[in-house]
Amino acid sequence: MVNQKLLEFISEEPLAEMRILDVGCGSGALALELAPLAKFVVGIDISAEEIDRARRLARRMGMANVVFCTCDALKCDYSAFAPDMVVAHFFMDDSVVVNSAHALERGECVCFACIEEDNLREIGWRSRFAYSERGMRRLLTENGFAVERLVVEREALTFDSFEDALSYFIGFKRKWSEEKWSRLMEYFKGGGRRITLSTLVGKARLL
Ligand SMILES: C[S@@+](CC[C@H](N)C(=O)[O-])C[C@H]1O[C@@H](n2cnc3c(N)ncnc32)[C@H](O)[C@@H]1O
Repeated sequence: MVNQKLLEFISEEPLAEMRILDVGCGSGALALELAPLAKFVVGIDISAEEIDRARRLARRMGMANVVFCTCDALKCDYSAFAPDMVVAHFFMDDSVVVNSAHALERGECVCFACIEEDNLREIGWRSRFAYSERGMRRLLTENGFAVERLVVEREALTFDSFEDALSYFIGFKRKWSEEKWSRLMEYFKGGGRRITLSTLVGKARLL
């Protein structure tokens, strides 16, 4: 499910006139949600498998104003897609901000939801996609953006048993590294019952 706060931030823009670039789009969850509202949407992802899945979904949904390309979002030139806005849903890296700053015009914005540094802190796991609020603010301002929104959505989940925790997280097993998965399982098997989920959601406009 797409982060609702992110959708709220994106929806404040005049989407019907906009070409939106969704970086690290995966199987197109955000791009396909935005396509009915936007003029045009391009989703890019490094995984050809995810891009195939996104294309199949778009076809099935009869969406004609969305395309998906296999492409490295850390290295490619976003201006090739002529975006009026760049969005990112759980894919973030310094180069996403740098590349967006190069491709966008003054007044255009980048909107994102990414993992916040406190996410899964109980198991001592920090994702390579994770940012602190302060680190993200610095990254955006150093690249010429004015930060308009920056919100941390943090919740602590509590489980009654190992089985309850397993059934909540099992859907992530396929997507996570073996090390991350086994750390989480060891934590719950060892009696851990509380885990923090934390997301950083933001919007910044190029000055
Ligand atoms: C956590 S998933 C999020 C996918 C999608 N945005 C969503 O919310 O469903 C991260 C995505 O980033 C993609 N990814 C990782 N490295 C990438 C890169 N260098 N360029 C483009 N996509 C990349 C992965 O293939 C994966 O689909």
